[in-house]
Amino acid sequence: MAENKQKTLEKLPLAGPHGAYLAPSLLAADFANLGQQLKDAEAAGAEIAHIDIMDGHFVPNLSMGPGIVEAIRPVSNMVFDVHLMLSEPGRYVETFAKAGAGHITIHVESEGNIAEIINHIHELGCSAGITLRPGTPVESLYPYLPMVEMALVMTVEPGFGGQSFMASQLPKVTALRAWADKAGKPLHVEVDGGIKAANAASVVAAGANMLVAGSSVFNKKASVADSINAIRGALKF
Ligand code: DX5
Ligand code: ZN
Repeated sequence: MAENKQKTLEKLPLAGPHGAYLAPSLLAADFANLGQQLKDAEAAGAEIAHIDIMDGHFVPNLSMGPGIVEAIRPVSNMVFDVHLMLSEPGRYVETFAKAGAGHITIHVESEGNIAEIINHIHELGCSAGITLRPGTPVESLYPYLPMVEMALVMTVEPGFGGQSFMASQLPKVTALRAWADKAGKPLHVEVDGGIKAANAASVVAAGANMLVAGSSVFNKKASVADSINAIRGALKF
């Protein structure tokens, strides 16, 4: 897992070179050209690849499995930020770490002992994150924040790309950043769902420093580079 360690969130300082990191979500990529889409995102300056894993049970959709993660790991030097939307994430964290995940985020609503799963993620050489559905109160994350490197705020109901951004979730971002500042902890706060150039500045202003963007990066309207530059331009970084 030594090589894996190079690609955890630990290699990304809190105040990044641009103030915020961009994490293109592969869910929206052209799966027939996944390797090239990943390379395009990295060439355009994205630091993180966000990889959504769905089990058709925790969320009503299926996406990628560990075989995809393993296949694309050699293609990229980006941190692989694996978002597990699984009812029983504890059963799969080792599989995804071995496949090449550098960072693994689990849902607080998942089954199993959340603290034990976070410890297991660390033992596997990965950084760990905790996240929540839009309907779950932010306070549910607080017991786990001292243990994790990242907290993720969902700004859509998990399960599908291309949904509308829920600004109602921004107070969670502010609360998490305030918690981290008070605790003196360099916690990454990531936002996922409906992020685009028009709302990117608002999530950074609220306290986020990692922006997941799926359909606003991978789409038929513009190239991956132009789409990434549009989001960066909105943030002026
Ligand atoms: C939704 C996923 C998101 C999704 C974001 O369950 O967690 O990562 O890919 O896609 P957009 O950016 O299109 O909302
Ligand atoms: Zn996600």
